[in-house]
Amino acid sequence: MTRLIEITFSDPDFGDLTKLAGTLVTTVGEGGQLSPAGEALDKVCGGAISRLAASAGFKARIGDVEKLLFPSDLSADAILVVGTGADAPDAAAARKIGGAIGARTAGEETTFLADGLGGPNLAAQATLGAALRRYAFVDHKTDDNDEDIGGSLRVRCPDADLAAKAAKPLLATAEGVFFTRDLINEPANVLTTSAFAMRLAAMASLGLVVEVLDEQKLEALGMRALLAVGQGSPSKSKVVVMKWMGGGDEAPLALIGKGVVFDTGGISLKPAGGMEEMTMDMGGAGVVAGVMKALAKRKAKANVIGIVGLVENMPDGMAQRPGDVVRSLKGDTIEVINTDAEGRLVLADVLWHAQEEYKPAAMIDLATLTGAMVIALGSENAGYFSNDDDLAVAFGEAAAAAGEGAWRMPLGRAYDKLLKSRVADMKNVGGRPAGAITAAQFLQRFVKDETPWIHIDIAGVASSKEGKPLSPKGATGWGVMALDQLVRDKFET
Ligand code: BES
Ligand code: MN
Ligand code: ZN
Repeated sequence: MTRLIEITFSDPDFGDLTKLAGTLVTTVGEGGQLSPAGEALDKVCGGAISRLAASAGFKARIGDVEKLLFPSDLSADAILVVGTGADAPDAAAARKIGGAIGARTAGEETTFLADGLGGPNLAAQATLGAALRRYAFVDHKTDDNDEDIGGSLRVRCPDADLAAKAAKPLLATAEGVFFTRDLINEPANVLTTSAFAMRLAAMASLGLVVEVLDEQKLEALGMRALLAVGQGSPSKSKVVVMKWMGGGDEAPLALIGKGVVFDTGGISLKPAGGMEEMTMDMGGAGVVAGVMKALAKRKAKANVIGIVGLVENMPDGMAQRPGDVVRSLKGDTIEVINTDAEGRLVLADVLWHAQEEYKPAAMIDLATLTGAMVIALGSENAGYFSNDDDLAVAFGEAAAAAGEGAWRMPLGRAYDKLLKSRVADMKNVGGRPAGAITAAQFLQRFVKDETPWIHIDIAGVASSKEGKPLSPKGATGWGVMALDQLVRDKFET
């Protein structure tokens, strides 16, 4: 399990700047302004910071960084100067500034002179950004001296006690993000369906009520669509229910996740190139798990039920075939044209189960559902689909506040018609055009008209090859902060 770096807050102290070890971080505005602590540091290192600030090469835009190595007369090994832009930063900008710090201080003992940010709340946001960017997935690195491991962050700012207080719930959310990233980064030979279920069951220690439904139970319920996806794998299919009842007696928000621990495509086998990426095909379930962890860690006053469908999609003598017809839990029959369109089969049964069992006030599903979504929006935005404008607007605002890109996509009857099957009630693919939308239409067939619902296709954003302002290469944890924010905005009493 990846833990947050060690973080402490204290008030500014200009007396010991020459004695601090490791890396010292200070801010510069686009006009060249240093903070009071930055001024003091500049004096004791012979003016290197003010010279950098005045130089043409350093623009001091949000997140611009320059590292001054082995500054004279200091014990520190480096001064990291980070730009804060032209205007006073808002929360998202402060997180990005923190992210830039985190990206350049991996494994280092770091003192962040955060008195140039404009108050304790923004210092806390920058701390969140740094903590998120300092994530490193090193569980399978044999050498535990890996340069990314360890290090600390000592934040110095006025009203440090207020900054520490503001950071507390933010860092609880960050722990949720880390949980999600660990799950997504974990290879499929380690994170089997049962290993996944066990990690979720372990969250009972945080006060979540966790229930694991095994194949026998799923069969008895009638989740034939979900079971058909997993029937080619020796790993047993499971549905895991995580309940956080921190609210009153109002109906819960249901969060549903696609948890395909590996997607080979099944008999409709994927090509070899890039297939290893399909170890992240449980990303939706990973995000749901991370949100549940964050809610429990910060003791959210809301009722939220997370339900994930955990399966592995393998080619095998027992695997389902193209052309098979399966009966869903709802009762509708599905012609499986392509066994690689498996996520929607899993979600169909979990969505229906969630509504029948928990009568949710709203339901949001997350899934790495389609390659078409990646083509449409790339890795900057997830696409979301909704049958309820109020919920959609609230989610869009929460995602924006969290700094996570999300773009609303359309639904419509004409798209739904593309799912018409010759032999069954529907087929599981609608053809190449509008592939992300027809996938969403398929899911909507398992959503009751009266249930406000959002489907979020995170295929493009769940992991990143290049790294992002707040995450290194690999799993991003996209969505944990947006959904945590939505819970704060709309579901907390
Ligand atoms: N897990 C994939 C979608 C995916 C693609 C996620 C790329 C992340 C990155 C999904 O199960 C899938 O294979 N979808 C097919 C559907 C098609 C057969 C209708 C796709 O998008 O090609
Ligand atoms: Mn697939
Ligand atoms: Zn898939």
